[in-house]
Amino acid sequence: MNFMVALNTIESQLHPSIKSILVLSYSQTGQLAEITGRIIDPLRMDSSITVHIETLRPVTPYPFPWKFFSFLDAFPESAHMIPPPLQPFLLTGEENFDLVILPYQVWFLAPSLPITAFLKHPLAKKLLAGKPVVTVIACRNMWMLAQEKMKGLLYDCGARLIDNVVLVDPSPTLASLLTTPLWLLSGKRDFLSVLPPAGIDAASIRAASRFGFALRDALHNDQEHGSTPLLAGLKAVDADPRLLFSEKAGTRSFYLWGKLLSAVGEPGQLRRRPFLLFYVIFLIALILTIVPLSLLIQVVLRPFLRRRFAVLKQHFDAPTGSGIERMSLYEQ
Ligand SMILES: Cc1cc2nc3c(=O)[nH]c(=O)nc-3n(C[C@H](O)[C@H](O)[C@H](O)COP(=O)(O)O)c2cc1C
Repeated sequence: MNFMVALNTIESQLHPSIKSILVLSYSQTGQLAEITGRIIDPLRMDSSITVHIETLRPVTPYPFPWKFFSFLDAFPESAHMIPPPLQPFLLTGEENFDLVILPYQVWFLAPSLPITAFLKHPLAKKLLAGKPVVTVIACRNMWMLAQEKMKGLLYDCGARLIDNVVLVDPSPTLASLLTTPLWLLSGKRDFLSVLPPAGIDAASIRAASRFGFALRDALHNDQEHGSTPLLAGLKAVDADPRLLFSEKAGTRSFYLWGKLLSAVGEPGQLRRRPFLLFYVIFLIALILTIVPLSLLIQVVLRPFLRRRFAVLKQHFDAPTGSGIERMSLYEQ
C-alpha cells in the first residue's frame, strides 16, 4: 500500500470521525482535472476529511492533441466499453472510503475508456461495493446515454449512485460539434476565432466549488449514509432531452460500426484506417442531417412533446435534480 494511502487509512481508523474520500482522476486537456480540483479543494482544506486521488494511467497513453486517426480509432472500443489496460494502482482494495467522487468525460457517447477500464477492474468492485458515489461529468453536451452506461457499471460494482453533477460546453450544439474536435485535434480551444471557444467556460468551472462546500457540510452531518442526494438545489444538472434522439442515433451507429471495426483489426492497426475514413464521411453526413433535423422537428412538435420531455428530463436530471434553491448558500 502506498505510504500516503496507508497514512490516511490509519488516520481514519484512529479517528473514526475523520471521513475519507476517494477521487478518481483522468483528464487530457486538464479541463476535468480543474473542475475536480475546484470540487475537492474545500474537502482538502477540512481537517476532518482526508482525500485520496487515484490517477488513472492507461498503459498506452491516449495522445493530446489527438492525431486524426487515433481519435477516430478510439470509437469502436469506447462504444463497446472494451477497457484498455491500466498501469498498477496505488490502492489495494482493502481501503475503506466513506464517499467516492467519480469524475469522467464522455467519449463517443460512453464513459471515457480509462474510467471504463477502472470500473471494469476487479479493484473497483472491492473499493466501491456499498459506497455512495458522486459522478461528475464534464463534456461537450451529449452525456445522457453515457450516464445510463455509467449506472450499469456502478451497479455491477454494487455502488450507490447518490449524486450526479454535469458541466457542459455552453456554446450551441452545432458550433461545439465543430469546435470540440478541432480543439482535441489541434490543442487550441479557439482554433476558429469566429466561433465561441471550445470547452466549459471559466466561470462555470470556478463555480463548481459550490459542490465541494456542500459535500463538506453533508459529510459533517453524516448524510452520505442516507439515500437522498447531497447536492440537490445547486443546479447540478440540466438535462436537455432534445438531444436524446441524436444521442440514440449516434449510439446505434457507433455500436454497429464499432462491431465491424473491431472485426477488421485491433486498436491502432493500419487495416482499420480505410474503414475509419469511410465512417467519418458517413458520420459527418449523419451529424449535418440528423442533429439539425431532429432539433427542427422537435421545435415543430414541441406542444405535443412537452409532457414526454418533462418525464425524460426528470429521469436524466436524477438523482440530484436541476433545482437551484440552495445556490445562495454556496455561491462564492
Ligand atoms: C475521443 C473523444 C470522444 C468524445 N466524445 C464526446 C461525446 O460523445 N460527447 C461529448 O459531449 N463530448 C465528447 N468528447 C469531449 C470530452 O467529453 C471532454 O469534454 C474533452 O475531451 C475534454 O476532457 P479532458 O478533461 O479529458 O481534457 C469527446 C472527447 C474525446 C477525446
